Amino acid sequence: MNNAAIGVFDSGVGGLTCVKELARLMPNENIVYLGDTARVPYGTKSKELIAQYGRQDIKFLEQHNVKMVLVACGTVSSVLMTTPIFEGTSITEFSGVIYPAVHAACASTQNNRIGVIGTPATIRSGCYGKAIHEMKPDIKVVGKACPMFVPLVENGYTSPDNRVSKLIAQEYLEVMIREKVDTLILGCTHYPMLKDVIAEVMGEGVKLISSGAEVAKHAQKILSFNDALSDREQNGTLELYCTDSVELFAENVGAFLGNNKNITISKCSLAL
Ligand code: DGL
Repeated sequence: MNNAAIGVFDSGVGGLTCVKELARLMPNENIVYLGDTARVPYGTKSKELIAQYGRQDIKFLEQHNVKMVLVACGTVSSVLMTTPIFEGTSITEFSGVIYPAVHAACASTQNNRIGVIGTPATIRSGCYGKAIHEMKPDIKVVGKACPMFVPLVENGYTSPDNRVSKLIAQEYLEVMIREKVDTLILGCTHYPMLKDVIAEVMGEGVKLISSGAEVAKHAQKILSFNDALSDREQNGTLELYCTDSVELFAENVGAFLGNNKNITISKCSLAL
């Protein structure tokens, strides 16, 4: 048993797709979340800068004595595949989103055609394709960077009938329809907030995999295996931190997580 909090971070609000699933699966766990809203997006930056930002985010969570860290950012997770960004920290239990999402996608596909959408950095790294082929070498992987999705989400353009979001989704996803993928990995944790729009464009019969939700399921398995789940009887707390305006962040949080009295939101600065 371990009652320390689970640490989660992302460049912005996207990692809340992981938090929502964590809270559903393990309501009695405390969660500390960092959204680096002052520096979002990460996905258009270089690998070196993304690694540096990731290390600073991890240091922040380390100060909160968390029992594990979930990298609820597809972009930092893609860097984590080749760069040991946890080295030199006291965090020994951590996970990125890539492998949990890939497991779910490989289990879901019937026609062996998987689509992956993500930030430019994630798609450029080819990390999803590598992980999928380690698991199932004969799968056709179709990748597509969707850089305009993150600003749409950060600015609240998530309603299913938003014309701008729909048009952009049609443009980005055309290749996925042409390539007849039956499973689409939402490889950036912001994208599930556009799930309704994406589902409508992709049509019925295409399974959408939320990388944020999958890493939350994976975390539950790890904590349970390590006998490190909380034995708290009441609901856990959700401490949210952002590096820019609390007001703006709170709007997005409210729209996505709803009102919950256990949520606190504060502004923080990161040690650089
Ligand atoms: N939520 C992010 C991801 O999963 C980051 C998007 C960004 O900062 O560009 O990649």
